[in-house]
Amino acid sequence: MGIAHEKVEKNIGLMAVLVAIAVSLGGLAEIVPLMFQAEAIQPLPGIKPYPALQLAGRDVYIREGCYGCHSQMVRTLRFETERYGHYSMAGESVYDRPFQWGSKRTGPDLARVGGRYSDDWHRVHLNNPRDVVPESNMPGFPWLSKNLVDGPTIQKHMKALQRIGDPYTDAEIQAASAAVKGKTEMDAVVAYLQDLGKHAPRGE
Ligand code: HEC
Repeated sequence: MGIAHEKVEKNIGLMAVLVAIAVSLGGLAEIVPLMFQAEAIQPLPGIKPYPALQLAGRDVYIREGCYGCHSQMVRTLRFETERYGHYSMAGESVYDRPFQWGSKRTGPDLARVGGRYSDDWHRVHLNNPRDVVPESNMPGFPWLSKNLVDGPTIQKHMKALQRIGDPYTDAEIQAASAAVKGKTEMDAVVAYLQDLGKHAPRGE
């Protein structure tokens, strides 16, 4: 063993500092290039900030903890792409704050669920999953069809997203209250689910 090596191994303070430096360099090497990689920050064609109703649905999705059982990330593995469709790309999640990729799959991945079922199927399923999938252990969310979406809250949410760079126009934010008027949280979640993966690349 070299003298320098021995010194480091016997001096825990020095070792801790050197370990911290080594880990930071490794971290920087992984993170910094991503910040400059165009494909990681450019939205894919068709990917836009969420319209008001879908944004409201996304808020409900997060509030109800759907992510605790559902991921939204198709991995680059053959059995995943065959089941769900094209693997997930960074450019699909540019306007997802926070992103919903996740890794916990008590239920199926939802990244490509848009258009797989009818709106009515989703309503029945969300109200009580066992009405359409008898063996399901997903909880029901019956209150969603009773709660109305709050226009001013959604407007504030859009304004905040605009401030941090999402390209909402002022007109879109103005119109948001009218767009969600009279809509229930159920309408909002279904609108959100039905658009998931709609702009994903086609094929595998
Ligand atoms: C405790 C775990 C759990 C939670 C929480 C949960 N789910 Fe599920 N979900 C499941 C399971 C298990 C399935 C598969 C059986 C079924 O279809 O009901 C499923 C299926 C689904 C499907 C059908 C997917 C497909 O491809 O067939 C959708 C859509 C869905 N869930 C949406 C939601 C939404 C929206 C929420 C939150 C409001 C939610 N889930 C919360 C467990 C969960």
